[in-house]
Amino acid sequence: MERSEFGRLPGGEKVDAFTLRNARGVEARVIGFGGAIVSLRVPDRAGRMGDVVLGYDSLAGYLADDAYFGSLIGRYANRIRDGRFSLDGEEHALDVNNGANHLHGGRRGFHKALWTAEPDGAALRLTYTSADGEEGYPGTLHATVRYTLTDADELVIDYGATVDRATPVNLTQHTYFNLTGDPARDILGHELQLAAGHITPVDETLIPTGELRPVQGTAFDFQHPCPIGARIGGADEQLARAGGYDHNFVLRRDGDSLALAARVHDPSTGRTLEVHTTEPGIQFYSGNFLDGTTLGKDGHRYGHRCGFCLEPQHFPDSPNRPEFPPVILRPGQHYASRTVYRFGTD
Ligand code: GLA
Repeated sequence: MERSEFGRLPGGEKVDAFTLRNARGVEARVIGFGGAIVSLRVPDRAGRMGDVVLGYDSLAGYLADDAYFGSLIGRYANRIRDGRFSLDGEEHALDVNNGANHLHGGRRGFHKALWTAEPDGAALRLTYTSADGEEGYPGTLHATVRYTLTDADELVIDYGATVDRATPVNLTQHTYFNLTGDPARDILGHELQLAAGHITPVDETLIPTGELRPVQGTAFDFQHPCPIGARIGGADEQLARAGGYDHNFVLRRDGDSLALAARVHDPSTGRTLEVHTTEPGIQFYSGNFLDGTTLGKDGHRYGHRCGFCLEPQHFPDSPNRPEFPPVILRPGQHYASRTVYRFGTD
């Protein structure tokens, strides 16, 4: 594993970049700041390598970023209504950073933390201690994330956490993919398949209403492969609220073993991406907030929908939804979650 300095924080702390490489020349580069994946080079059907993730050339980009490019997300991924929840009879107020709601762990969530990063065999191991009260969350939390690149072109991400007091935990990865390798192109032609028969529809502020709505016959039906752009402009209240897809899909699964959640195919290059996860949901976000103002890698201005995210997770606002799969971690318990991003061509 190659290690080099990526930049320095305003306080002078060094941020390193680590390059994981497999036997087939696939390469993932990760930095300690936000645990962000800054590049991911995989072959197309002709064997040509291309970088399939959005990001920045320098640390300054990640410091200023408000789109979560490539970052780890915590302590709680996605939204919590009004930034409030009660737990064991006590009310907690979180950082409110998205209208009236809390999003992605708050302004100083795990994406803005400097993780301790060390090679661990062929893997990269990142650790971060989130202090009691950070962004309003109760209890000290120790998080560990391990990135492993296998010779089967899989990026395996293992998340672990322990706490000294009960707290909600929902960790994920917020990489934006563009399988063409050319972010000047949008992702609307990518074909998406999701192992989901329901979504958790949202209100005007993108908080789940509590309903589990069947996707059958709607623009959210990706049970068979369908281009992302095929129905994105249709008249649909859910699409209108989010400006496109920005929804949690309820994965069809039994138990919590690793299962296929999503498959994406870019017909132009043949590149494919499969997402396997132990999580019960996946947020599919079609890059609706990208508007050409963000200056990314290699001088690219990231345009509308030039990247998509598939964020395996527990459902949004679960701390306020006892009917959703549970998200509270207690002392003595060990949080464990795994996601595999598997690349291929066809
Ligand atoms: C998540 C959210 C979106 C948006 C993006 C980043 O996917 O659900 O609403 O915040 O992150 O812009």
